[in-house]
Amino acid sequence: MSLSFLVPLTSRYAPLSKLHFGHGRGAARSVNCILSRRPAITILAIFLHPIFRPQSLSFSSTAIARGGSSRSVAPENLIVLGIETSCDDTAAAVVTGNGKILSQIVSSQADLLSRYGGVAPKMAEEAHSLVIDQVVQQALDNSSLTGEDLSAVAVTIGPGLSLCLRVGVTKARSIAGRFNLPFIGVHHMEAHTLVARLVERDLQFPFLALLISGGHNLLILARDVGHYVQLGTTIDDAIGEAYDKTARWLGLDISKGGGPALEELAHEGDSNSVKFKIPMRQYKDCNFSYAGLKTQVRLAIESRHVCVDNNPILSASSHERKSRADIAASFQRVAVLHLEERCQRAIEWAKEMEPSIKCLVVSGGVASNQYVRSRLNYVVERNGISLVCPPPNLCTDNGVMVAWTGIEHFILGRFDPPPPAFDPEDYMCDLRPRWPLGEEYLHGKSEARSLKRARMHPSLTSIIQSSIKQQI
Ligand code: KG4
Ligand code: ZN
Repeated sequence: MSLSFLVPLTSRYAPLSKLHFGHGRGAARSVNCILSRRPAITILAIFLHPIFRPQSLSFSSTAIARGGSSRSVAPENLIVLGIETSCDDTAAAVVTGNGKILSQIVSSQADLLSRYGGVAPKMAEEAHSLVIDQVVQQALDNSSLTGEDLSAVAVTIGPGLSLCLRVGVTKARSIAGRFNLPFIGVHHMEAHTLVARLVERDLQFPFLALLISGGHNLLILARDVGHYVQLGTTIDDAIGEAYDKTARWLGLDISKGGGPALEELAHEGDSNSVKFKIPMRQYKDCNFSYAGLKTQVRLAIESRHVCVDNNPILSASSHERKSRADIAASFQRVAVLHLEERCQRAIEWAKEMEPSIKCLVVSGGVASNQYVRSRLNYVVERNGISLVCPPPNLCTDNGVMVAWTGIEHFILGRFDPPPPAFDPEDYMCDLRPRWPLGEEYLHGKSEARSLKRARMHPSLTSIIQSSIKQQI
């Protein structure tokens, strides 16, 4: 039974809501998705029936009309190209609907990062532009596929640096336009979350997720694909930023990333030797802060006269190396204790909201840290739930998570029609540099929470939920 009809879209955020919804139930049911191409689209093809549960994953097949001819694709046979350029990694991957990774390419800018001490947007954009064609081509070649074989193209559209996001989005649009493929704009942090469902195919909603990266610290309750409640976020810096700065100040070789370098040095140190204060203990919420810990580290380095400016760790005396390792280990202990305390509270909150919760997903670059994993394992064990941590190469930024998130939304019928073969010169990419994943849990709002809400996009969850409500 086809459930298709067209409805006009009145949202103020037209490009945000260019979501196509398909909902279905029963293994034999198929849904016809008609991809209509219109200039300045404000019309949606909506496939919806109120009796069907909105985010059900129950399609038996998705019929995609491409270039006039319609062909039916079972979800497991979908093949999606995912592209990621939101920060300092240029990544692409090809993934199938049953979770098989056909290829995965990542080109890192870690060397730029170590030279300039942070991501400089203009330089990062240039670095992405330099390698994007090669990275995407390599991903296609390694999968032995061409654009003709793809079912859709997914790309990170936010949050992240606009200049960098634009490189990936432009590339994705050009491929989708050229091969007449549906286009899926992906939320970077949702991609970090949902990749856990590729790794752990039995992982069911609802679950709790801790997302820890260079730019984000998030605790979320994941209710469904596109439906998240934000229990906590950082009020200043993310943990990855604190790892990176500490590694730099300690004179470590950060050409392969500050986090891994610091984790390695910490093995040599005494984690109780420097008494750092655990952040935000006076706030009984799930928010994070790492700016103060960074300052404490800086002061410890200065007071111990660990002069690192012209003294990389390789040329340090053994005494000095030990002193730096002590700082590294002590920093790591407290940085992770802060995560442990917030996770403990978040589990309690989440169990009140969703007593059926069984898993804590930990993802994002910092989740590749073994110490972080082992400490959080104690926390989940104490609470009778389990830890799901993707392998390290799927925790750091990658194209697989974007392709997979594209697949999760595509199966639900949420995608844009193929873009034109060539965008007009004045085409404005739909980029969302500041884009929350979900609405804040009211109980979780902190007095300490900074109100940096200017130029913030409506959250992914609010866009999807209001689109669903509009149609019912
Ligand atoms: O998710 P990600 O690759 O990029 C962002 O979205 O930010 O995370 C990058 C962050 C960096 O700060 C990096 O130093 C940190 O993850 N990271 C680590 C480790 N591996 C990567 N931090 C601690 N220990 C690690 N082993
Ligand atoms: Zn990331």
